[in-house]
Amino acid sequence: MSDPGPVTAIVHAGGAHVLPLLGRVEELLREVAAGHGPVLAEHAGSTIAAGGKRLRPLLVILAAGGEPDGDGLVRAAAAVELVHSATLVHDDVLDLAPLRRGRPTVFATAGRAAATQTGDLLFARAFALLARNDSPEQVRALSDAGSALARGELLQRSDAWDATISLERYLRRCELKTARLFEACCILGALEGGAGSAEALREFGRRIGLAFQILDDVLDVAGPPEKTGKHRGTDLLDGTVTLPFILARERDPDLGAIDPRAIATPAAAEAICDRIAATGALDEARAAALEHVAAAKAVIPDGLAERERAALVLVADGVVARYS
Ligand code: IPE
Ligand code: IPE
Ligand code: MG
Ligand code: MG
Repeated sequence: MSDPGPVTAIVHAGGAHVLPLLGRVEELLREVAAGHGPVLAEHAGSTIAAGGKRLRPLLVILAAGGEPDGDGLVRAAAAVELVHSATLVHDDVLDLAPLRRGRPTVFATAGRAAATQTGDLLFARAFALLARNDSPEQVRALSDAGSALARGELLQRSDAWDATISLERYLRRCELKTARLFEACCILGALEGGAGSAEALREFGRRIGLAFQILDDVLDVAGPPEKTGKHRGTDLLDGTVTLPFILARERDPDLGAIDPRAIATPAAAEAICDRIAATGALDEARAAALEHVAAAKAVIPDGLAERERAALVLVADGVVARYS
């Protein structure tokens, strides 16, 4: 979704109220990042200012249905984006990542300590904001997603450098690391709006979250870097074995025998990406993502208005039609 096309189309399909609501979310995000000392203001502020697709706040708004313009919905959407941003700042510490949202990461510019505290601040601000909605269910949903994320990231670390990890284990990671937050977006929206069934929307969120992470992992192997904004093979260089490798090792047993620790340079990682691509595993992984997209579309609740249903279909298609 680097080109604004898909997101613009979703915003348009969702109705005239969506863009002003997203504008209010932006305003709130800027506000809550400020006022906690100059260092945190700089790093939290630049994380927020760097943008990102804002897919999760959009999902909260669409899941609410109708045309709610309440402050509660805006707070819920902003809280989700704050948790997401917090986890990205922390993820970049874990992954030693140089770039995020097209800019140097907090970790790269200011180091591990500043990045850890910036992430902590963003988490804290998220829950302070959501608490103002006076809804223990909302706090529970976002807190559950945050806990799942922590478990998912830990699982990914403990799986690092293991070329033999199972498909089940990989999917479990995707579920915890990514899908649960998409679920939370839908639940928060449903709780604020009340138009669609929270359970069906939860499953919608889970499915598009899985598709989203699978596609993210495909893009890491497939590139192209000019479109994804990062080098091919960064996951492998970091010891992270994902679906394309898991599928490719079945087709090219020599690949399965590789010790990921031996992949020491970006050029070596790119060469492995080429070998993965040559097996046809990327198409197979994309097909797996598309199955989740189809399953997501199938559970969009009837209770939602046609306009929201159409926008959610575009969201589902959009998670696999993107480069960043
Ligand atoms: C990145 O999420 C993290 C993953 C779950 C793969 P996004 O691609 O939605 O990040 P931004 O918010 O647009 O930067
Ligand atoms: C996704 O993990 C980040 C979180 C869900 C916290 P990745 O490490 O795969 O995401 P990118 O590639 O850094 O965005
Ligand atoms: Mg990462
Ligand atoms: Mg990744």
